[in-house]
Amino acid sequence: MKTNLSNIKKAKKLLNKSECIAIPTETVYGLAGNAYSNTACKKIFKLKKRPKNNPLIVHYFNLQHLEKDCHINDDFKKLYEEFCPGPITFILNLKKNSKISKFATNNRNTLGVRFPKHRITMNLLKQLKFPLAAPSANISSKVSAVSSSDVKEDFGKKIKFILEGGRSKIGLESTIIDTRNKPKILRLGGLNLSKIKGILKKKITINNNPSKISAPGQFKVHYSPGIPIRLNVNKIKNNEAYLLIKNRKNIKPNYYFLSKKGDLNEVAKNLYSTLRKIKKSNFKSIAVCKIPNVGLGKAINDRLLRASKF
Ligand code: TXA
Ligand code: MG
Repeated sequence: MKTNLSNIKKAKKLLNKSECIAIPTETVYGLAGNAYSNTACKKIFKLKKRPKNNPLIVHYFNLQHLEKDCHINDDFKKLYEEFCPGPITFILNLKKNSKISKFATNNRNTLGVRFPKHRITMNLLKQLKFPLAAPSANISSKVSAVSSSDVKEDFGKKIKFILEGGRSKIGLESTIIDTRNKPKILRLGGLNLSKIKGILKKKITINNNPSKISAPGQFKVHYSPGIPIRLNVNKIKNNEAYLLIKNRKNIKPNYYFLSKKGDLNEVAKNLYSTLRKIKKSNFKSIAVCKIPNVGLGKAINDRLLRASKF
């Protein structure tokens, strides 16, 4: 896709005025605003209907930009060098003189930071004089947006501009890791745990349990399409959509495939858009087949489990 320079110019102009816009990333679209501006951060919470105690993650172009705001550490550096830009978010300590809005962090002294891998958004970040606070561009607790039309569906005219960047390549939110002490995963996501282990070569704990909230925002109900979801289903009910990971013979109109042959990258990429599509087709509920709990399958199962708490 060609970078449309006039679009980037428009995005810049609005962000400089503390407006919110949607930006494309490789994971999901973000609802972005100037992370140094109280006005912009407050607008993000309001638009998303997000609880104020759930902090925003902040997007940077590169390490040089980040170092003004955060203290870094060795594990961070190793992972940054290997995977950034890419689908990983780090929890770091804020520097005392950082300009990050206290509304973004809800007065915490830590910050979630990410370096998104998307040509258009990187181009924008490079030109701005501030980083972008950007939670996923969906109404709080609902399914994330993986295209500009998903964003439109959720926000309509309430957001001033959507920077078009095509369909998100990964389709699942970033993996969140706290590297301040012993490495701890706070959210499974687009970067596989095994890849992180391969670099850090030490024990990594997973604190992905919604009942023990240490990453706020890991609320029990999340990523919900707004109708009930049943997991590990062999036999579906009447009036139920059936979500399958690979194509089958004897397909019926209520069957939805997330990939041709069960490739979990493809499953992840198609998951949210298919959930949105099913919701619009007036089914009463969704049955999901068993999904292998390996690689990206772990993050996919995590999202579906939370979505099923509806
Ligand atoms: O892939 C992604 O991460 C996308 C794209 C747009 O970058 N963003 C995203 O943002 O998923 P959001 O806000 O939907 O999820 C970020 C999560 C939230 O659950 C929030 O609670 C957690 O990160 N978080 C943010 N700051 C934190 C902090 N200081 N400590 C612990 N968790 C934090
Ligand atoms: Mg989100």
